[in-house]
Amino acid sequence: MTIYLNGQYMPIEEAKISVLDRGFIFGDGVYEVIPVYSRKVFRLDSHLFRLQHSLDGIKLTNPHSDSEWTAIIDELIKRNSVQDQYLYLHITRGVAKRDHAFPNPPVKPTVFMMSNPLLTPPANLLQSGVGAVSASDNRWLRCDIKAIALLPNVLLRQMAVDAGCAETILIRDNSFMTEGAASNIFVVKKGKLLAPPKDNLMLPGITYDVVLEIAAANDIPHEVRRIAATEVYDADELLLTSSTKEILAITTLDGKPVGTGKPGEMFTRLYKLYQEFKHNVMRAS
Ligand code: PDD
Repeated sequence: MTIYLNGQYMPIEEAKISVLDRGFIFGDGVYEVIPVYSRKVFRLDSHLFRLQHSLDGIKLTNPHSDSEWTAIIDELIKRNSVQDQYLYLHITRGVAKRDHAFPNPPVKPTVFMMSNPLLTPPANLLQSGVGAVSASDNRWLRCDIKAIALLPNVLLRQMAVDAGCAETILIRDNSFMTEGAASNIFVVKKGKLLAPPKDNLMLPGITYDVVLEIAAANDIPHEVRRIAATEVYDADELLLTSSTKEILAITTLDGKPVGTGKPGEMFTRLYKLYQEFKHNVMRAS
C-alpha cells in the first residue's frame, strides 16, 4: 500500500512521524474519509468544503489549495491498484514541544493520506439489516468538526460491538437524536423520511446530503427537523448512512425489532436510487 506523507509517496511501512506530533499528543487535527468508485473520487468538492470547515473550526490554515489536494488525491489513487477505494486524509497541527497552546510561530502541519479498499456492506447485511443500540450522546458541542480526537465515538461504537450490533444511535440530553457513533441516522415514519438538522451536534455527512437530494429529486416525502428520541424508538424504519457503509437498514434497536424487523420499503427504494445515482455520477465524470 502506497501512502502520502508530507509531500512524499511511500510504502506504508516506511511512513514515520514524530512522537511529538500534536495529533499523537493531543488529537489536535482533522480528517476526511472520501470514497473512490472505479478509481474516480466521489463528491470531492463536498469533502474539500467540509475539510475547510473542520480546519476553520480548529483554527488551522489549510496547507493546500483545492487543486493541490486534487493532484495529491489523483496521484494516490493512481499508485494504488484497487478499483473502489476509500481515502483517509489526516491533517494535524504538526510537531512541537508539548504545550496545549498552539505553537507560536506556527509549525508545518502534518499531512497524511492513505487508500484502503472500499468494502461496502455485503449482500447478506443489505438483506438482513444490522442491529443498533442507543446511548447518551456524551460528546462535545462541536460535532460538526471532523476531529481526529475520536475517543467518545470509539467508546460509543464499542458499546454496539459489545452488544453484537453494528452502530450506536446517539441521544442528546435524554431528548433528541443526533447521529450514530460513525454515521448519520434517518428515521422513517408513515412513509416519510426524517433527518436531523445539520447543526453543531452532528457531522454534516456527505452521504446524508446525497440521500436528501435523492429524496427531493424522486418526490419522496421528507423533512429535516429535530427528531425526538421517542420517534426513534417508535420508527417504522431506521437507516444509517456513511461514505463507507453507503445506506444500511437498522432492523433492531436495543434488542427489539424496528418496524417489521426487516429492511423496509424506504430502505429498498433509497438503496436502489443511491446505487443508480452513484453510477450516473461516475459515468458523467
Ligand atoms: N465517518 N457522523 C459521524 C460521527 C461519522 O464519523 C461519519 C462518517 C458520518 C457520515 O459522514 P459521511 O457520509 O460524510 O461519511 C456521520 C467516517 C466514514 C469514518 O470516520 O470512518
